[in-house]
Amino acid sequence: MPALVLLGAQWGDEGKGKATDLLGGSVDYVVRYQGGNNAGHTVVVGDQKYALHLLPSGILSPGCTPVIGNGVVVDPSVLLSELSGLNERGVDTSKLLLSGNAHIITPYNVTVDKVTERFLGKRKIGTTGRGIGPTYADKINRVGIRVQDLYDESILTQKVEAALDVKNQILTKLYNRRAIAVDQVVEELLAYADKLAPYVADTVLVLNQALEEDKVVLFEGGQGTLLDIDHGTYPFVTSSNPTAGGACTGAGVGPTKISRVIGILKAYTTRVGAGPFPTELFDEDGEALRRIGGERGVTTGRDRRCGWFDAVIARYATRVNGLTDFFLTKLDVLTGWEQIPVCVAYEIDGRRVEELPYSQTDFHHAKPVYEMLPGWNEDISKAKTFADLPKNAQAYVKALEEMSGAPISAIGVGPGRDETIEINSFI
Ligand code: GDP
Ligand code: IMO
Ligand code: MG
Repeated sequence: MPALVLLGAQWGDEGKGKATDLLGGSVDYVVRYQGGNNAGHTVVVGDQKYALHLLPSGILSPGCTPVIGNGVVVDPSVLLSELSGLNERGVDTSKLLLSGNAHIITPYNVTVDKVTERFLGKRKIGTTGRGIGPTYADKINRVGIRVQDLYDESILTQKVEAALDVKNQILTKLYNRRAIAVDQVVEELLAYADKLAPYVADTVLVLNQALEEDKVVLFEGGQGTLLDIDHGTYPFVTSSNPTAGGACTGAGVGPTKISRVIGILKAYTTRVGAGPFPTELFDEDGEALRRIGGERGVTTGRDRRCGWFDAVIARYATRVNGLTDFFLTKLDVLTGWEQIPVCVAYEIDGRRVEELPYSQTDFHHAKPVYEMLPGWNEDISKAKTFADLPKNAQAYVKALEEMSGAPISAIGVGPGRDETIEINSFI
């Protein structure tokens, strides 16, 4: 039995960290399969708040083994400082497993990310500046550095040389920057080798053996469906596959092993960075969602763009991920509106469109078609069962479920672990 995937159904920041942490107590492994420290996953345990960027949220559950899979890109300095930060707060991180095949975010990848964005000017993606795109580009170009390369100085030097050959030409001739010295990079990377060594493992073997032994493995996505390099709002996306298929390639587990795919779905919509967003609000409602929902980026501190729930996107997420369930988050944030608009379709050049258009041009022109749902005023943060919710909140959840195409199996009514209504059990 079971391998579960938990992923973002929108543009990230849906509450994946909280949902993963909630399940962490009942699973044996939590695995990050893509992305890197562009993620910011918030977990609130009692009066303690943790912001995790690279480590799987399962690290906070003592019985659970956290795994960084081959599909992740790893900035060693960030990993080590995240580990020591948790150790200082009394969290045991010794069980962490790090794939030897995961790619390393080198200092030059971070530089290239930043200068490329600056060069793009108005056309910039609004990346997190963490070197994610350039590191995945190196991986695809077959000039990437992997964790295992830290343990062979000669290979590491050759690979850094190969990568910098071209990059230094670009940095000096195109961007007017200073060239980066191979020796300096190699020295910096080698300094991480011993510190990371205790964690490095053949994670593919470990995870497949665990599944054969009927252990429960949870794959925790970073980012979200609409930020997927293939299925998202390209080019305003991240450079990996947060969608369900990414869990297979990013961890080395076959699709036949996956029994459940849970989409984390915010009761409204947010986005950070550039790109189209049909239900975005520029008025006081948008301001109120941002204020009440605390919609400020965990990684970059940028204000998140806010808008109403978009059922077209939710349906799309159900389809491309094969979602079996939704975990609806932040329903409490919607308390106090008399009526809540929900986008049920788009109008594109005078046509009503029910599904996400594949054409970037069409999506840029998409105008939301709203249905108004009645709101509620009661405080719902103490609700423990679906029946505890006011009738209009129940109707809102039911309407979203109907429009989105998969059952809503849990509802978040606050950031804490216990501020959750569980409807169907996940495991
Ligand atoms: P992630 O990147 O998907 O893990 O999400 P983030 O942590 O970036 O953003 C989600 C924010 O919402 C965090 O501050 C969470 O603590 C918070 N949160 C998660 N679920 C709920 C919920 O049901 N209600 C409220 N009010 N906050 C929530
Ligand atoms: P979590 O896991 C929201 C966005 C960036 C930018 C685009 C590309 O917390 O949901 P990148 O640095 O990945 O090349 O940036 O993707 N982005 C996120 N937005 N939540 C995230 O992660 C994100 N990770 C990247 O803002 O628009
Ligand atoms: Mg986040």
